[in-house]
Amino acid sequence: MADIDTREAVYVTDTLIAEDIDAYLVQHEHKTMLRFITCGSVDDGKSTLIGRLLYDSKMIFEDQLDALTADSKKVGTQGQEIDFALLVDGLAAEREQGITIDVAYRFFNTEKRKFIVADCPGHEQYTRNMVTGASTADLAVILIDARKGVLVQTRRHSYLCHLIGIKNIVLAVNKMDLVDYDQAVFDGIVKDYAEFAKSIGIESFTAMPISGFKGDNITSLSTNTPWYAGPTLVEHLETVEVLSSVDADKPFRLPVQWVNRPNLDFRGFSGLISTGSVKPGDKIRVLPSGKTSSITRIVTFDGDLEEAVAGQSVTVCFEDEIDCSRGSVIAIADNPPQTADQFESTIVWMADEALIPGRAYWLKLGTQMVSATVAEPKYTVNVNTMEHMAAKTLDLNAIGVAEVTADKPIVFEPYAENRALGGFILIDKMTNATVAAGMLNFSLRRSQNVHWQAVDIDRTQHAKLKNQKPAVLWFTGLSGSGKSTIANLVEKKLHRMNRHTFLLDGDNVRHGLNKDLGFTEADRIENIRRVGEVSKLMTDAGLIVITAFISPFQADREMVRGMLQDGEFIEVFIDTPLKVAEARDVKGLYKKARSGELKNFTGIDSPYEAPRNPEVRIDTTVLSPEEAAELIVNTLLGDA
Ligand code: ADX
Repeated sequence: MADIDTREAVYVTDTLIAEDIDAYLVQHEHKTMLRFITCGSVDDGKSTLIGRLLYDSKMIFEDQLDALTADSKKVGTQGQEIDFALLVDGLAAEREQGITIDVAYRFFNTEKRKFIVADCPGHEQYTRNMVTGASTADLAVILIDARKGVLVQTRRHSYLCHLIGIKNIVLAVNKMDLVDYDQAVFDGIVKDYAEFAKSIGIESFTAMPISGFKGDNITSLSTNTPWYAGPTLVEHLETVEVLSSVDADKPFRLPVQWVNRPNLDFRGFSGLISTGSVKPGDKIRVLPSGKTSSITRIVTFDGDLEEAVAGQSVTVCFEDEIDCSRGSVIAIADNPPQTADQFESTIVWMADEALIPGRAYWLKLGTQMVSATVAEPKYTVNVNTMEHMAAKTLDLNAIGVAEVTADKPIVFEPYAENRALGGFILIDKMTNATVAAGMLNFSLRRSQNVHWQAVDIDRTQHAKLKNQKPAVLWFTGLSGSGKSTIANLVEKKLHRMNRHTFLLDGDNVRHGLNKDLGFTEADRIENIRRVGEVSKLMTDAGLIVITAFISPFQADREMVRGMLQDGEFIEVFIDTPLKVAEARDVKGLYKKARSGELKNFTGIDSPYEAPRNPEVRIDTTVLSPEEAAELIVNTLLGDA
């Protein structure tokens, strides 16, 4: 094993613990924290390297050691007696158990810094895990087996780290002991890697020859590599600039997490400063409203501050009573971030179920949450070769570039400039599961330059002239459930009552506006989106709209609800059991579907998601069409 020279330092620290616990705590409190990620497959010696760092730092918490070593009794305060091999075995075993679920985070300390290392599985099927681990990292250690050189995995991991915006890359050429510490081998690998790194836009990296197993160049320079003049791994980890200090030099941004209003005299806005710094007296602007004021106080648990910087959680107060709530971003007045609702973004898909272009997902960006749709990807990236490939969707672990459209403007900055205001996740509205992580690259000009045109005769005037309240009676149900029949009766009744109506029927609209659409999931979503938009225009025109579409997906019906004014969308569930609809088989389509002649037929080989909470539910096995129509009209007019 190479000479390891940390004992003295550790001893000093330990004496401090024994003699002056307060001084010890103060010393630790003021240490900066570096988060890093180790990338490499198990064979590259990742577990050994992490084990080595924990072992050599001798500062790992004892409870971690207890968990990791079979015989915890052997562990002394300074960890001298830990069996290194045992520790590594423990880490590897734990890694394997946790491999499919998550990223393992480990903590250790040196004299100068605290560290959190994210240990991520390396295979391609764990791309999402790696992205998770990398998303908070300041630095990445890319491990290479000196005997194997730059591999496909090396390229994939480097690409992902670069994509996530990690600026500090360490190329750790490991297992140097197995190539006789040969400088030519090291130089060859560094040259190969430099070429690749340049091709994907990595500007610089730090290469070092190490042996995790023997301890070369980990905590002290190894006598086995006299030709290497750079820093040891730990030295580099201890001195490299951490993100929060880089972020402190950027313009001030504070995404608001919550508003504090314990009484009428105090109104403060709390959150984590993502970039920049702030002082009392600074002029600020609140987005998206754009209102300005200035900071009067910066409040924390330990009293008011003269200044607060990136990475600190604070509560700020304003000079003026301007609008500001959860999701707002407080920024320096003369250099605020942008707001937009259409973006080009890079998306990492993390769910088993593929992306459905056009479907509405929740987009959560820091404290902001909006409804958003993703268009068909422009391309996906083959993470092994960096090639761009055409794609219709994004499958599990796929990385692609696509346009994202939000239902209202969000305050953002390109991810490359600000991770907190450029990084987002997508959440499935039905299951609440996180399905993707994404990075906003830039806003689309289209969304900047197309503005809503205000017109003088607006929806209120239209409705007033017709003397009615616009609404959408949205019928949903299986094919043959009776939607068209009942919808037709409803329209006749309303017409007789001098109401201005319009009936949009699936079969008819599919002959015109939507004749380019079929019955795949994506086409059905587009069908409903267009019908939703048309219905919205018709309500603006003051009409009572009746729609009769299967509209099998809850998420899409909710999307239409979201497009309309509160209370305007009335979901009418024509509840006819499949058995009954199939027995009627008015158009003979069920028969065709059963025989396999007609594919993707709702209820047979394409799903129908029944409404959970419809405004009206019609059980057609109990009510006649006439009775159903009566009930619906009464509900609409409020006489039910
Ligand atoms: S939706 O699912 O996109 O809402 P929509 O209501 O427009 O469907 O159209 C459904 C009508 O198309 C059915 O009533 C039926 O007459 C016809 N149709 C043809 N093929 C299919 C199919 N594969 N699934 C469902 N309906 C189909």
